[in-house]
Amino acid sequence: MSYCLNSFLAGCGFGVDEPEDMEYNEMEQEKNWVIEVQDVSYTYDGDGKKALDGLNLNIRRGAKVAFMGGNGSGKSTLFLCLNGIRRPDTGRICIDGKPIRYTRKGLLEVRGKVGIVFQEPDDQLFSASVYEEISFGILNLGTDEETARKEVERVIEELEITPFQDRPAHALSGGQKKQVAIADILVMHPEVMILDEPAAALDPKHTGKVEEIVESLTAKGITVLMATHDMDYAYDWADEIVLMHEGKVIRQGTPFEVCTDRTALEQASLELPAVVRIYERLKEKGRIPGDIAPPGNVDELIAYL
Ligand SMILES: Nc1ncnc2c1ncn2[C@@H]1O[C@H](COP(=O)(O)OP(=O)(O)O)[C@@H](O)[C@H]1O
Ligand SMILES: [Mg+2]
Repeated sequence: MSYCLNSFLAGCGFGVDEPEDMEYNEMEQEKNWVIEVQDVSYTYDGDGKKALDGLNLNIRRGAKVAFMGGNGSGKSTLFLCLNGIRRPDTGRICIDGKPIRYTRKGLLEVRGKVGIVFQEPDDQLFSASVYEEISFGILNLGTDEETARKEVERVIEELEITPFQDRPAHALSGGQKKQVAIADILVMHPEVMILDEPAAALDPKHTGKVEEIVESLTAKGITVLMATHDMDYAYDWADEIVLMHEGKVIRQGTPFEVCTDRTALEQASLELPAVVRIYERLKEKGRIPGDIAPPGNVDELIAYL
């Protein structure tokens, strides 16, 4: 409203101060944060070192965000805090603009909105059969049995789990377990899906399957946060990369912004993606014009040649 009025006044030649417009933009942006992390610290019991150390972060609704950083930089701990499994010692986490409430009701609410697929599927799967496993979470949210059954069947179909839906969860391959772990979360229609190193220990075929599932999620407008060590994949897939180091976010930006910050990359022990390395070399050698935009992926780079 105030923006319309300001534009109108500006159009009539009345001066409008910059700060008011900025204030408006900031307010508008805040409405689009699905997750806000403010000054969060967390230390595991019996550990002298902070796993998260005054961490700040905002995540835009619908974004695809890759989390990168060395082992022990705090990615998994942050994820556990984002859906209330761990409670920060200090600081605040808001989901949809509301601080997480650490009551039974509050936690159920946040788990219905923010789902985590753990790095190790065995940490997540515990029911006897695949079908029971996928039903558990949605029934726990209080959904009636008939609706839950329909949702479970839909997800089983969508993720191509039908061939092994009646098998015991512990008898599945690593890739199949990962598919079930994703189904567990998807069935609850989360707003935010967190995948903690989804490609770890998967063969290329199953990695491809997981990537396909992730693509279909983002196409539906779900916000996806993914921890990965694969810089080439992150560069191609993500809207934003968050670099973590010693429990803090040291850099957040578009893949190209982050990849051209050599200091931050070195701090997080990360290499440049192959696409950017080749692009920079070709520019140096004058094989592509100096002012050409950086390619977003291999296909864009090839198109420049
Ligand atoms: N269950 C745990 N108990 C004690 N310390 C832990 C536990 N999980 C993680 N940590 C410690 O917290 C820090 C951050 O670890 P983590 O969040 O797992 O990092 P990342 O996922 O980036 O590898 C590390 O120093 C790690 O040793
Ligand atoms: Mg981890």
